[in-house]
Amino acid sequence: MTHTSPIPLPHLGGLTADEFLRDYWQKKPLLVRNAFPDLPELVGRDDLFELAQEDGIEARIVLEKDGKKPWELRKGPFTPKQYKQLPKTHWTLLVQAVDHYLPELAAYWEAFSFVPGWRTDDIMISSAPVGGSVGPHYDQYDVFLVQGQGQRRWQLGEKCDSHSPCLADTPLRILKDMPVTFDEVVNPGDLLYVPPGLAHFGVAQNDCLTFSFGFRAPILSHVLEQLVDAALESAGTDKLYADPGLTPQAHPGWLNPVHLQSLKAQVLDLLRDHSRLDAVLAPFLSEPKYSDYEPVGDDISPEDLLHTLQSGALLCRDPASRIIYLGEEGHADQLFINGEAVTDLPDSRFVAKLADHRQLGWEDLQDWLADADNLEWLCQQIAQGFWLIMGEEDDAE
Ligand code: SIN
Ligand code: CO
Repeated sequence: MTHTSPIPLPHLGGLTADEFLRDYWQKKPLLVRNAFPDLPELVGRDDLFELAQEDGIEARIVLEKDGKKPWELRKGPFTPKQYKQLPKTHWTLLVQAVDHYLPELAAYWEAFSFVPGWRTDDIMISSAPVGGSVGPHYDQYDVFLVQGQGQRRWQLGEKCDSHSPCLADTPLRILKDMPVTFDEVVNPGDLLYVPPGLAHFGVAQNDCLTFSFGFRAPILSHVLEQLVDAALESAGTDKLYADPGLTPQAHPGWLNPVHLQSLKAQVLDLLRDHSRLDAVLAPFLSEPKYSDYEPVGDDISPEDLLHTLQSGALLCRDPASRIIYLGEEGHADQLFINGEAVTDLPDSRFVAKLADHRQLGWEDLQDWLADADNLEWLCQQIAQGFWLIMGEEDDAE
């Protein structure tokens, strides 16, 4: 089903989702002033430095100057002692997947819900003192850069690829040279969309935080690997090249291109069974960012769930889990979470509603939860950690 979104979105500068996707997505950059006025308040510098000390966190520090050599890369988690030894300027702390730890931040993904959920990656946040940057570079993925506290000067360049010359002697891929096509200083709440491959260079003008809403796209050769594995498993060794239409050839040593073509076509036919391949691709596309991720849930009774939602608590999708469905749009006939199929689903529209949103409240859920199967199933899902309850009365005590 195609779906048009005629509503102008303030965080896209008044563009509708249709217009943004048609004119900008994967094509050209977009700057929107004051797109998310409240976002900068959500995470401060100290929160980020604390998070980067936690086990299991993916954090890096990039030191342009005063390291062992220019553009040194240090990997976290970090200790307060390491922070104290940092120079005054020209470095950046980058923390991946901050949204996995903060459902309030993950809720901002709703602003980009016109892009399918399986394309979202994570929200990285960087913190830098004046002069801090990760150098001129390009990324392979789409990113919405939202300025948190402080100011950053963004320069954009041209489209790049793996042949674009980079600096030697650093683990970072820093462009040797970036002809500037755009030059703006962004303020808290401003948004800059950067399409894949476009060179960009952001330099902190003062103590500054930048939120990167990053997308992912599967590497096509990895998808092919999935398809080939599935095809090999199903074809086994029973299927052989067949040539019932063979005609005589005068030179038996000749490898006839027609026969080669037929062999290739028969092999490609092994990859054409769509229902079997969907059954492989959907779990693959639902794999979480971190393959060792195991959600932790809480037991809750149906009565307690109803009570807590009625009292104003919110049901949030686990930000670190990836949840997608197959079926018609808005009807989850098959559900996939973190690489696994989930069986015994209740009402397909209820499951789709849960999978389509980051946060739902009593108003959104009450009609659905009047059905005992839906309610029971949701309690099981919460116990497995795929959905969380936020803002419970107990939290406030
Ligand atoms: C940063 O936040 O410093 C860098 C983000 C990016 O360039 O992708
Ligand atoms: Co970048």
